[in-house]
Amino acid sequence: MASTRPTLIARRLRRGAAALGMLALVAVATSGCSVDEALRMGMPQPATKEAPTIQNLWIGAWISAWAVGALVWGLIIAAVILYRRRSHDEALPKQTTYNVPIEFLYTVAPLIMIMVLASFVWRDQSELTALSSKTTHTIGVVGFRWSWAFNYVQEGVHEVGTPNQKPTLWLPVNERTRFQLTSPDVDHSFWVPAFLFKMDVIPGRLNQFELTPDKLGTYPGRCAELCGVDHANMLFDVKVVTRPQYDAHIAQLRAQGATGLFATGRASTKEGVTA
Ligand code: CUA
Repeated sequence: MASTRPTLIARRLRRGAAALGMLALVAVATSGCSVDEALRMGMPQPATKEAPTIQNLWIGAWISAWAVGALVWGLIIAAVILYRRRSHDEALPKQTTYNVPIEFLYTVAPLIMIMVLASFVWRDQSELTALSSKTTHTIGVVGFRWSWAFNYVQEGVHEVGTPNQKPTLWLPVNERTRFQLTSPDVDHSFWVPAFLFKMDVIPGRLNQFELTPDKLGTYPGRCAELCGVDHANMLFDVKVVTRPQYDAHIAQLRAQGATGLFATGRASTKEGVTA
């Protein structure tokens, strides 16, 4: 019954594709993803001026991965259909080994692909981690076992959280802010998903980056480095507010007596954090 096999295979392929399509639909429907979220490939709504760069890198990487995936799956499926054994007494097809051009191709092609991806990562990472000399607003972030302290460096006030009482970091909207990350104990990681950015907080090191929050709102933040028993409670909120609201909050912290800067395990100065 060799003549019916192609129809059988076609039917199986169609059924397989339909099942995959249904699975994808169910996955999207049950994850509660909106079309907008699905288009961002799971990334949150960006809340900084720099975040679209990261979002574009993320989406670009997905598009290239899907393109490569489609090509590879296409070639595999085509080979399975076109070169299948059509009858039991059919001899094995010609076996190809040590084909230099093909081996060269599958060594060089992935190398070029990796280099192209790496060049985009390098370009965006250099841009995103660049520190400007003009930043006037500095936040000292201290990650400690097991909460966070935020030093408002220019204003000379601070806020400290505990594992049971998460702190809130207030930021003025549309102002480029430098974050200076320090830890007095173990590695932590400062992560605000809506900023599409995180950076490790490492004892004995000063890690810095700058971002410009450009959307008013409250965003959850967390520690993204498994640091010990209360790692999961190293939560905080980031509140992006207008300048007058920000100034009012600073005045309130000052009135509460939260003056001076929280000890980092290193001494803090206005210029930065020095050992
Ligand atoms: Cu700090 Cu996890």
